[in-house]
Amino acid sequence: MINSIKKDNIYHNLYDGKWIISDNTIDIFSPIDGELIGKVPAMLKDDVNKFLENSKLSQKHWELTSIDSRANILYKTAKILEDNIDEISEILMLEIAKDKKSSISEVKRTADFIRHTADTGRNLYGDFIQSDSFPGFSRNKLCLATRVPLGVVLAISPFNYPINLSASKIAPALMAGNSVLLKPPTQGSISALYLSKAFMMAGLPHGVLNTITGKSSSIGDYLVSHENVNFINFTGSTKVGNHIASISNMIPLMMELGGKDAAIVLKDADIEKTAKEIISGAFSYSGQRCTAIKRVLVIEDIANNLVDALLNELNQLKVGLPQDNCEVTPLIDSNSCDFVMNLIKDALDKGANLVTGYKRSGNIIYPTLLDNISLDMDLAWEEPFGPVLPIIRVSSKEEAIRIANKSQYGLQSSIFTQDINDAFNIANKLNVGTVQINSKTERGPDHFPFSGVKSSGMGTQGIRYSIEAMSRLKSIVINI
Ligand code: NAP
Ligand code: G3P
Repeated sequence: MINSIKKDNIYHNLYDGKWIISDNTIDIFSPIDGELIGKVPAMLKDDVNKFLENSKLSQKHWELTSIDSRANILYKTAKILEDNIDEISEILMLEIAKDKKSSISEVKRTADFIRHTADTGRNLYGDFIQSDSFPGFSRNKLCLATRVPLGVVLAISPFNYPINLSASKIAPALMAGNSVLLKPPTQGSISALYLSKAFMMAGLPHGVLNTITGKSSSIGDYLVSHENVNFINFTGSTKVGNHIASISNMIPLMMELGGKDAAIVLKDADIEKTAKEIISGAFSYSGQRCTAIKRVLVIEDIANNLVDALLNELNQLKVGLPQDNCEVTPLIDSNSCDFVMNLIKDALDKGANLVTGYKRSGNIIYPTLLDNISLDMDLAWEEPFGPVLPIIRVSSKEEAIRIANKSQYGLQSSIFTQDINDAFNIANKLNVGTVQINSKTERGPDHFPFSGVKSSGMGTQGIRYSIEAMSRLKSIVINI
């Protein structure tokens, strides 16, 4: 699969169906051991102009392609990903230090996502509306509302799911008849180029998907404010999301940003099951998931029992290298480790109890559990994006809801209880995109609506919702 996208360890960008390089490159090192994996082109502003011009032209042809043909290309792409799952998951593991099992499941999930998007896209229709249901109108007008594409979608994905969160933008955008320019995360760009190669192998017409790797400091702002971009679909940090929103010149935006998902544990929770869900939710891929559980709000009466059960589960996590299938692996870079270690230190300085962890070896941070976190500690509010879980003890459900909602984020929350009335009452009061009852927070299944409020984003993803967001209803009114 790889040969056409790499030469002399330099990966190429996809432009108008060809794989091209640039004079400058960026070295991509593995977070596992610092080894050079390859180089990717460092594209510049002139390339942005050229690529977007091509995306714009190609889209005009693509929107005339039948929905059935678009779906068939997506089905083929899914098959190609599955046929090459070993090669793709291997590069993913090396590039972002995601454990082998999760890397394989990211590729498999992406193939399923693409197939489901094709199924959904071919079953989405417009509307046919009569005028006489509105006061004052007879049946003299008929509205035919058809779904039309927006044009060129700029897809920007983050390092933690460079394949899945690129495909979750590309596939729905293509089904809706848009062309896509993909700007992958720098650390993760090789994996995203493999994904793009699968679309090309499936027969996607030239220019309908282009990729642009490069330093966001040199092309980022230029891309997101470019006149040839008709929609920006961004996943990443709240800081960068805010910045993009402030400079993007009224280009419509969809944003999936950071989170501080709370697990609220009530007195009657099944402690063993709750602990399993919380540890898996907090520590898989070393906590580098937007939907990771990033704080526990537990009723004081059962807090000691919960801490014991959490520690018991945490002790079963394997820490080490992704190729050895450890759950807690090196973080994406050394700066991220420093950030997490400083959050832990701040909490300890202010009186938190260290239950376990606070040990670093290179880019590996050992899973860390901190009890008696108070609201003056940064860890109560900041998104660490690393393997650390703060426990905040509360005296009542109302206090849990108040603290949960005080966060600047509003992605997801979990509630653990046996009482369905409590679960629904609390769920109704939480200001988040999704509430999970008796489960960890998580995005999937990927056709469910997925959204964040406040600093966690804008717009709703999820297969049908993503296609709808990247298309619009155009009305033609027949006057009889
Ligand atoms: P990030 O630093 O914000 O980067 C995200 C993407 O934006 C990367 O492709 C990055 O490129 C690009 N970028 C940076 N500055 C840009 C600019 N000025 N213009 C255009 N693009 C720019 O985020 P990350 O560290 O990759 O990902 C972790 C964050 O993503 C966490 O906060 C996490 O919660 C969030 N996330 C949210 C969701 C969700 O669904 N809500 C899902 C996954 C992750 P470079 O890599 O080249 O800088
Ligand atoms: O952080 C990435 C986002 O897509 C979450 O997916 O499956 O880890 O909840 P998941």
